[in-house]
Amino acid sequence: MTETAASHRKPSPTPVDWAAVRADFPLLTRQVQGKPLIYLDSANTGQKPAAVIEAVDDFYRAHNANVSRAVHTLGTEATEAYEGARRKLARFLNVRGDDLVLCSGTTFAINLVAYSWALPRLKPGDTILVSRMEHHANIVPWQLVAQRTGAVVRVAEIAPDGSLDPDALRAAMTPDVKLLAVTHVSNVLGTVNPVREICREARKRGIVTVVDGSQAVPHRKVDIAAIGCDFYALTGHKMCGPTGTGALWARREHLQAMPPFIGGGEMIKEVSFDGTVFNDAPHKFEAGTPNIAGFIGLGAAVDYLDAIGMAHIEAREAELLAHATEELDRIEGLRIFGRAPEKAAVISFLVEGAHAHDLATLLDLEGVAIRSGQHCAHPLLQFFGVAATCRMSLAFYNTHEEIEKFVAALKKARSLLA
Ligand SMILES: Cc1ncc(COP(=O)(O)O)c(C=O)c1O
Repeated sequence: MTETAASHRKPSPTPVDWAAVRADFPLLTRQVQGKPLIYLDSANTGQKPAAVIEAVDDFYRAHNANVSRAVHTLGTEATEAYEGARRKLARFLNVRGDDLVLCSGTTFAINLVAYSWALPRLKPGDTILVSRMEHHANIVPWQLVAQRTGAVVRVAEIAPDGSLDPDALRAAMTPDVKLLAVTHVSNVLGTVNPVREICREARKRGIVTVVDGSQAVPHRKVDIAAIGCDFYALTGHKMCGPTGTGALWARREHLQAMPPFIGGGEMIKEVSFDGTVFNDAPHKFEAGTPNIAGFIGLGAAVDYLDAIGMAHIEAREAELLAHATEELDRIEGLRIFGRAPEKAAVISFLVEGAHAHDLATLLDLEGVAIRSGQHCAHPLLQFFGVAATCRMSLAFYNTHEEIEKFVAALKKARSLLA
């Protein structure tokens, strides 16, 4: 396969040239509503560097074929590139490629655990423990499984600052709890949960752990092996990769014991009308033609993030978060939701007297993209007693100047609504 832009970016020297990094993102140069775009919605989806766009383009222009089927040259190239992306992602996360199921994203990954691991095992009297700050993708699949098995879903509450109370969580790990589903980083509050300690406590009690890594993997070095969970779910589009890509990592013993979730081609060794012999994991969970180009793009995204260095990315985003928090704290009547001691670059807020959607609409007129609403986390907003919030979320490609312009636009929007 030809060398793509994904691999010609050399590891950045220290300190990183963030202006050059930003220039890698073609979309960030566009205008919105006649103003330069200020994209503050990366928790929703991340922007894509040219390296990723070129990798997808190159696949369709020069290598397009189906994977794991044809012996011809294109088929071999496509399979090698697709499996190469799995290997890259596995190395990035410090796990074995064979234990990484490629799928459409976190939602699919968690549903795979729900239907393939939990559904055949849970029974009346069992409890699934989830935290208050979960995304709906880490709540609704458990409710569906509970309905069908007679298990119940119980909530581990959070403290007012948006952190999980470790003592309360430990106390909630009673003998009936068979599974604990917790997010690594909250998409609304930015809270970084101590998943390593949580999984250690759960493991001592024989509780299987599912960690939602959607908002962690794009922003910090994630070493799944060190976390010690049973399952780790992630999504590609928030980490500079294409939409419709993601993965589930699982302990080998679970992958071997779990039945396939979706049946079809690619996931079998042999099929007859007397029965089917399934392929080995991870392929037995990957029925049908996958998003080949998307995963090749995800492989390029991993190369890209790796070249900058996750430690650099984490430090840069911490700096941007501190700046944005300081600026927002100066605005009278602005309330920030989520003040956990360890926080990723996500700020949910409300401004007294202004509806979240009105603010987001007025900000859009200034070229500023933020999200408003419930952020797929209704139970969390219920905890805070609010119907919606504004959420600005940063990535390493944002700038301090953008934060200042955003704050100026917010003040202007507020004055229009007063
Ligand atoms: C914490 C969290 N979990 C799960 C998801 C669902 O990810 P996807 O829609 O890519 O499957 C998201 C996406 O917003 C998220 O932020």
